Amino acid sequence: MSELNETIQSADWKAEKHAPSISAPEEAFAGRPVTVTASIGAALAHPNTPQHHIAWMSLYFLPDGAKLPIQLAHAEFTAHAESMTGEPGPALTQPRMAAEVQLSKGGTLMAMAYCNLHGLWQSSKAIRVAAAAPDADPASVRVAGPEFLDALCGEAASSPRLRKNANLHAGNDYPCHRLFNALQPGTYVRPHRHLEPSKDETLLLVRGSMGACFFDGAGNVVRTEKLSPGMAVDVPHGVWHTFVCLEPDTVFFEAKAGPYVPMTPEEAAPFAPPENDPAAPDFLAALAKRF
Ligand SMILES: [Fe+2]
Ligand SMILES: [Fe+2]
Repeated sequence: MSELNETIQSADWKAEKHAPSISAPEEAFAGRPVTVTASIGAALAHPNTPQHHIAWMSLYFLPDGAKLPIQLAHAEFTAHAESMTGEPGPALTQPRMAAEVQLSKGGTLMAMAYCNLHGLWQSSKAIRVAAAAPDADPASVRVAGPEFLDALCGEAASSPRLRKNANLHAGNDYPCHRLFNALQPGTYVRPHRHLEPSKDETLLLVRGSMGACFFDGAGNVVRTEKLSPGMAVDVPHGVWHTFVCLEPDTVFFEAKAGPYVPMTPEEAAPFAPPENDPAAPDFLAALAKRF
């Protein structure tokens, strides 16, 4: 091995913590700005310490038919909790960058990242560019009527988790997540909170009956709301919450900002058993008794 390019590694970002994950729409329109983000650790966290960190990331674009890439943006991540004392310092730059770009033709977005211990990593994602925004086919409009909801409730009943979601957004990286969730009694959602300021969560009950439980940090239930169809709750980020299904074939609609980010340890309630824990059914039953 004697060339730098022979050292560049690539892997699926969902399985390898070094592989950059690129987030961009599948299709853009010529001349209209699109936001392209690239990050490390979207699925599996990478260390961020003075000794081991992602030092920089670059974003490139290879237009269809071209031989050479164009650099779109470059970011240096320069704070990794360094300090003079041996204690962790007060600042960390996360390895995440965003660039707003206008493209006039399709091609491949490419990201390259450098880990100070594990070298160079790359990944790529195709993007199509249409000349002008087309008239979309009204046949693509989806209607969630009784048949759709019945089928989703049936899937929830036969699922081991006793719930089933149907996403309207096309992918985890979409900026606005919209989904239906069908629940059957006995399904247990571990109390949790969403810490990202963008991730307030709005739920509208469509069918059935549901109990909303809100907790303080010690695990005391400090507020409950019984929801009937047509009622909505808006849960600000940071509020510990869970929902208890009180009737068969309960369905709610949920909207929350994307992209999908796996739950961090600080977001799962330490005062509540995990899903599948032997203590979960009793914990759930105690919540259900409140309604
Ligand atoms: Fe590394
Ligand atoms: Fe939630």
